[in-house]
Amino acid sequence: MSTIGNRLPARVPGIRARKGGPQPLVMVTAYDAPSARAAAAAGVDLVLVGDSLGMVVLGFDDTLAVTVDDIARHTGAVARSAPGQLIVADMPWTSYHTGTSDAVHNAARLVRAGATAVKLEGGAKRLPVIRAILDAEVPVMGHLGLTPQSVHAMGGFRVQARQPDQAKSLLEEAIALADAGCFAIVLEGVPGTVAADITQAIPVPTFGIGAGPACDGQVLVFHDVVGFGGPRTPRFARRYAQLDDIAASALTSWADDVRGRRFPSPTETYSA
Ligand code: KIV
Repeated sequence: MSTIGNRLPARVPGIRARKGGPQPLVMVTAYDAPSARAAAAAGVDLVLVGDSLGMVVLGFDDTLAVTVDDIARHTGAVARSAPGQLIVADMPWTSYHTGTSDAVHNAARLVRAGATAVKLEGGAKRLPVIRAILDAEVPVMGHLGLTPQSVHAMGGFRVQARQPDQAKSLLEEAIALADAGCFAIVLEGVPGTVAADITQAIPVPTFGIGAGPACDGQVLVFHDVVGFGGPRTPRFARRYAQLDDIAASALTSWADDVRGRRFPSPTETYSA
């Protein structure tokens, strides 16, 4: 198990217990060995194998093409590369929409692949599925607000709950998810004031992404933080490196060396 200093990786009850604590929680996405190793080395509290995989790794315009096989495969890669981390695996679109039995079966596949918990999108209408997965002893993280799997129903990736009646409904949904037993809830793409009200009202941690500073924790997509996702960074993300540029420059140097016959050198060549 990897440790950061003398800190052990977090567990689900430990995450719940940090609700309202002095230090915000940190969650980042990871999809493969390098991103998982970086997340573990940075000492994040949770690693999310998000279905953003579809967009930042597989090149789709949205998350709808991602399957349980995809998330299981990438959860395995993350679990092998960051042993002992608290790994939350996203339940992709249609993996929990066809009934409680399918949902439990798919959640179990993700746990067997290495996940500690699963995350799924939606409010009150997901309560039966959330309860069924919890009954199977799998911790569940909720996800409200801008829920990317509803991109067509929402008419695009749009900030949600801007109107007072929508903010009130979202608050009710968050209370319902917390009452059902979700150990934490992601709030995505909602006004900061709405996220603050929800965070105040519920007894479990909120993780904000485009939801302002009042949440109990923050979550971002790995590629947005390290600048490995093309030129566009969403307004709510902050880029701390430019890996796109670093990778392109390294490959350009190597290609120049190959074309100039400077690569490989004798030390990079096996002798007989
Ligand atoms: O898939 C994902 O990366 C997510 C985060 C944006 C919360 O759900």
